[in-house]
Amino acid sequence: MSFDHLIQLRINGSEDAGYLSFFEAEKDIPFPIKRVYYTYNVPVGTKRGMHAHKTLQQLLWCPYGEIEVILDDGKEKTSYLLDSPEKALLVLKGYWRNLYWKKEGSVLCVAASDYYDEDDYIRDYDEFIKYVKEGYWSYED
Ligand code: TYD
Repeated sequence: MSFDHLIQLRINGSEDAGYLSFFEAEKDIPFPIKRVYYTYNVPVGTKRGMHAHKTLQQLLWCPYGEIEVILDDGKEKTSYLLDSPEKALLVLKGYWRNLYWKKEGSVLCVAASDYYDEDDYIRDYDEFIKYVKEGYWSYED
């Protein structure tokens, strides 16, 4: 199985009746889901994220609004715009992420591979770079 960061979610529906999008754990994404959370009522212009995870894998999607996600593997930064309920961003372990709220009312939903664990966070950028340099992540699995 190989996954690109940006995933086009499956869609069911029509213009008249409206649409339904969905994804299934271990089919559309490469991990079982243990936790779902969402971030809302975030003022436009707010920056969130600013951390990496040692092992956690996540799928991010924005059912309403516009959120820019910058993923950083310690060498390169790539920007992704979540501006459609049909798009989702797969963030495997080892990426520093910065998130920017672009539109009022935007909601960020996250499906995560594990329970909340503060010890899995790297919240210091220099520490993140140290982990990258030590080859902590292969970025291939
Ligand atoms: P964090 O993951 O840093 O969110 P963001 O990147 O959007 O700023 O989480 C913010 C706070 O919420 C942090 O103090 C931990 C807490 N939190 C939980 O208690 N449970 C959770 O499942 C998550 C995701 C966060």
